[in-house]
Amino acid sequence: MKPLRVVENAEELSRIATEEVLRAAGEAIAARGSFFVALAGGSTPRMLYQRLAAAPGVRFRRWQIFFGDERCVPPDHLDSNYRMVKEALLDPAGIPPELVHRIPGEMEPAAAAVQYELELAESFPGAAPRFDLVLLGMGADGHTASLFPGTAALEERERLVRENRVEKLQAWRVTMTLPLLNAARRVIFLVAGSDKAAALRSVLQPAGGMELPPAARVAPVDGSLLWLVDRAAAG
Ligand code: 6PG
Repeated sequence: MKPLRVVENAEELSRIATEEVLRAAGEAIAARGSFFVALAGGSTPRMLYQRLAAAPGVRFRRWQIFFGDERCVPPDHLDSNYRMVKEALLDPAGIPPELVHRIPGEMEPAAAAVQYELELAESFPGAAPRFDLVLLGMGADGHTASLFPGTAALEERERLVRENRVEKLQAWRVTMTLPLLNAARRVIFLVAGSDKAAALRSVLQPAGGMELPPAARVAPVDGSLLWLVDRAAAG
């Protein structure tokens, strides 16, 4: 059973998601003095990030912002997840660069993955990296972060960050892997639009014998999971 909350539309999704993120941040800061969050890319979370930037009294200085995945492009490229987050959240909220851990998409993919995993280790000294919150989206093919069906990074069991060749996109990605995603205290999926309905059904009601879509393999070992979806995606 996957905890599911269906909301009317993408606009309400961003409103509810804002409440969930701010609640997680408040709890983490109260408990440990900081909030470690991994942001989703793509287009669905943009409205959420804009809402967060406009929310009053958010203690962003206590946040440490990471990215669940990145396209292997420069940070000012239109496809860059970092660029989307910078425009929707970082710049409007005035979040300083020292609180932001960008995946270096401009680097050679394998080197970028190694560097990011080192940055994770430095950010969680003496402990296994464990995010307070991981935000994820899902593609129409059931991928999440850059863990696409049939790709090598999906099967990674040791490394926390990996380069991933996505043949169907003819592109390289750098992505957090299931061991890292599933170590989180809380994971929230944000899914909107009727084009996601089939993939969502295969996650929520897996058909026997069918291979689980990557998004269905996100199951926090010692944490909570919420699927926040709009009515169109819920079919
Ligand atoms: C990315 C994201 C990816 C995204 C899904 C859904 O880099 O594209 O990390 O996993 O969340 O593709 O994307 P949309 O929100 O644009 O539908």
